[in-house]
Amino acid sequence: MGELMGGWKRTHMCGTLNLEHVGQEVTIMGWAHRRRDLGGLIFIDLRDRTGIVQVVFNEEKCGGDVFRKAEMVRSEYVLAVKGMVVKRDPDTVNPKIPTGEIEVVANQLKILSVSNTPPFSLEDDINVSEMVRLKYRYLDLRRAEMQRNIVLRHRIAKWVRDFLDSKGFYEIETPMLTRSTPEGARDYLVPSRVHPGKFYALPQSPQLFKQLLMLSGFDRYFQIARCFRDEDLRADRQPEFTQIDIEMSFVDVDDVIAINEEMLADIFKRALGIELLLPLPRLTYKEAMERYGTDKPDTRFGLELKDLTDLVKDCEFKVFSSAVASGGSVRAINAKGCAIKFSRREIDALVDFAKNFGAKGLAWIAVEQDGLKSPITKFFTEQQMSDILKRLEAETGDLLLFMADKDDVVFQVLGQLRLELARRLELIDKSKYNLVWVVEFPLLEYDEEEKRFVAKHHPFTAPMDQDIEYLDTDPARVRAKAYDIVLNGVEIGGGSIRIHTTEMQEKMLNVLGFSKERAWKSFGFLLEAFKYGAPPHGGIAYGLDRLVMMLAGRDSIRDVIAFPKVQNASDPLTDAPAEVEHKQLREVHIRVDA
Ligand code: AMO
Ligand code: AMP
Repeated sequence: MGELMGGWKRTHMCGTLNLEHVGQEVTIMGWAHRRRDLGGLIFIDLRDRTGIVQVVFNEEKCGGDVFRKAEMVRSEYVLAVKGMVVKRDPDTVNPKIPTGEIEVVANQLKILSVSNTPPFSLEDDINVSEMVRLKYRYLDLRRAEMQRNIVLRHRIAKWVRDFLDSKGFYEIETPMLTRSTPEGARDYLVPSRVHPGKFYALPQSPQLFKQLLMLSGFDRYFQIARCFRDEDLRADRQPEFTQIDIEMSFVDVDDVIAINEEMLADIFKRALGIELLLPLPRLTYKEAMERYGTDKPDTRFGLELKDLTDLVKDCEFKVFSSAVASGGSVRAINAKGCAIKFSRREIDALVDFAKNFGAKGLAWIAVEQDGLKSPITKFFTEQQMSDILKRLEAETGDLLLFMADKDDVVFQVLGQLRLELARRLELIDKSKYNLVWVVEFPLLEYDEEEKRFVAKHHPFTAPMDQDIEYLDTDPARVRAKAYDIVLNGVEIGGGSIRIHTTEMQEKMLNVLGFSKERAWKSFGFLLEAFKYGAPPHGGIAYGLDRLVMMLAGRDSIRDVIAFPKVQNASDPLTDAPAEVEHKQLREVHIRVDA
């Protein structure tokens, strides 16, 4: 049921009407946000993407037929209204909305569409499960908050395009149907009909194509590219997501960083009115790990880690000394003032928190007025204890938290503990936007499961010149020309200078355990391309979803993606993934074994 537009033309958008329009006859169209019935008067808040305006039906003015139609209106009916813009009485002005000084006195009404009662309220502060929101995503997206997020996303993409275009970058599309190459995350596969038993893979990123475009001489490339990775989802991870993907020729690390800082400054200025102070701070990977326990540090607050390994290596406390003896470290955080703030129960909860992240235990010392309270002080000499307190700058009231283990466990636990303490102590200033580059990543990391080295970034990243000599003798020591950009503890982008010679690429693949034959089988097209004049090149990719999430002040990228997937990679709206017809499977030569 619903009337036709019948030649009516919209003259204004709801949210744009103001005192300037008083006295004008307008035609507006939109959704009935709310309806209030006051006997001879009906108020309908009419909503479109620009906002809400109050429409008044006065039985005496609009006539009985129109009034009776207005009585039928329910939430989310789609209406067309003709009426006169009038100034509201001073005592009925609504300062909360931009149209609050006027209202539209209706004289005609069309009900263009009716609506079932929505399954949840379309106000901003809704209390409904995300599953329901996503099943009715088209309704969820009507909410002003979601509209703002999606529009901000559009704007950011547009600013990025404008900025990069102004710097001579060309936007070039790369294929969605491509070949699976090893060394990445798990691929999404697409079976070929024409080639029985063969598969395309959806791109995890345009990495190799953008490198080939540098070989082709385009010099500066970008793409706002959809990427696909069959990974476990999290608040900041989707199986399909969007990258701002960038590549440049004849550059080194500082050149890529410089132009990206300019771009970030441009976006921050436009989105938030914030002037970034350039150049942005940089931390080496080593420093980030040692001070924050993570390669994506949130630098909005202190609580930095301190290394105590040298002080405790010979102490009587076996947990500490044996961790050091087996190549690990002992590090600590001074939780300022927490000896007073936290009860014993709360300290025990911190220990449990640490254990959840793999700690075998968490030793602590409470520095109290009448001395140190701790299960471990008895193991230390007076000199050792005073050195520890000094290094941790301990004062009365402080709670010192210690971890002893292999470095990666210590960093993981104390890094997480640092974030947890900041949350509990409310140390995080939400108005701050701290950007930091993390540079000089290790080129490789040892994979215990596979018993071999894997690339920390990807196998196309170049080693730092001064470390190349260790590629054979001590691969773990080699640092990469790689950089991540981190915003308030979230990795929003990452990139590197690339290898651009066949020899170095073969060598890298060899370090990763590829025989020459397998290297050529998997990456032959790249290895061969490098033989035809490859310019030195490098680039970066941002997670657009993450960047928008941060600038929109949200905690989940699902809030800035129109149609996201849920935890198990399904879509509650369309119910994808779904079974397909037998015939379709036969055509692509697939038999299901589930
Ligand atoms: P990387 O794998 O680090 O680098 O990805 C770049 C950025 O993309 C975002 N991102 C994601 N966002 C949402 N969901 C995901 N599943 C997801 N995975 C990654 C992150 C990340 O920083 N080709 C290289 C870039 C390069 O070297 O130029 C690459 O893809 O914000
Ligand atoms: P235990 O000797 O296991 O009773 O531990 C004594 C104290 O040391 C307890 O407070 C434990 O939580 C703590 N502890 C145990 N293992 C570690 C570790 N790897 N790092 C730091 N503290 C630990």
